[in-house]
Amino acid sequence: MRILLLGKRGQVGWELQRALAPLGELKMLDRTDGGDLTRPIEVAESIRAFMPDVVVNAAAYTSVDRAETEQELARTVNAAAVAAIARSCTEVGAWFVHYSTDYVFDGSGQRPWLETDVPAPLNVYGRTKLEGESAIVESGCRYLLFRTSWVYAARGGNFPKTMLRLAAERDEVRVINDQFGAPTSAELIADVTAHCIRQAISDESLAGIYHLAASGCTTWHDYANWVLAAAASQRHQGGHRPVLIPVPSSEFSTPARRPLNSRLDTHKLRSRFGLCLPHWQDGVGRMLAEVLQ
Ligand SMILES: NC(=O)c1ccc[n+]([C@@H]2O[C@H](COP(=O)([O-])OP(=O)(O)OC[C@H]3O[C@@H](n4cnc5c(N)ncnc54)[C@H](OP(=O)(O)O)[C@@H]3O)[C@@H](O)[C@H]2O)c1
Repeated sequence: MRILLLGKRGQVGWELQRALAPLGELKMLDRTDGGDLTRPIEVAESIRAFMPDVVVNAAAYTSVDRAETEQELARTVNAAAVAAIARSCTEVGAWFVHYSTDYVFDGSGQRPWLETDVPAPLNVYGRTKLEGESAIVESGCRYLLFRTSWVYAARGGNFPKTMLRLAAERDEVRVINDQFGAPTSAELIADVTAHCIRQAISDESLAGIYHLAASGCTTWHDYANWVLAAAASQRHQGGHRPVLIPVPSSEFSTPARRPLNSRLDTHKLRSRFGLCLPHWQDGVGRMLAEVLQ
């Protein structure tokens, strides 16, 4: 199997380098060698030149707040380039594996979102990601489109690491307590992706949109609390523990609005691919063990 990976340096892309390698011949492109998503025509040419069986796109414009003022760039990377990749996949007969987000939903209610629920993004990032989704669906290519949430990885910056840093600096940290979701590791996303590619390649009926998130649900406040407790116990010491103050989203003024309900229903993914998704605490605990060693 010939696999083309875009976005190899991102959180998910880095883990995909590892997870996709055993599946076949893996070629990776980044901004400097034909994989710059601000140049959709060049990316399409790269796909036609390599003639892959599968294109996996982990590249995206992911700066949620900055997207409010960089709409054109966000739209080029998240929608126009994705549309060009999808058209190329249709042309060369390749599968297209792509990632989207819980931010395509408006966050209303408390029920976990189903793949069939109607998207209504609250911000520019979510709108551009939804436009990318629509382009894939309309392109006629065979695709696996995974909507995920609250992604973190050992590599690079992330929410748990920020909380550990703030905990060392402050006596009091205010953390949002009215947004609900499941922290999902890049490692899990990459491993599930590899598993699904292996099955889908021999069963085209598996093509479609899937919600992919760790099990369980938390808020940013409870997530932070859990991280600080787990870090203290992994270090076998009490250490400095700030007071975490739960606050509503309305106390944080950010350029982009964020959904309150980011719960994703993963039943379709689990049942169609015979998968079990671990609890979010398992992955965060592993990541902490790695970064605190
Ligand atoms: N992070 C989250 O919480 C989250 C939540 C839900 C869904 N998702 C989705 O999951 C996927 C993976 O996200 P992630 O967290 O791994 O993102 P990430 O860590 O921000 O990585 C994004 C990658 O895209 C690359 N990129 C950005 N603009 C590019 C361009 N013009 N040309 C080529 N590459 C470009 C970046 O390259 P550089 O390193 O060179 O900048 C980086 O490698 C994305 O589709 C994202 O929308 C993420």
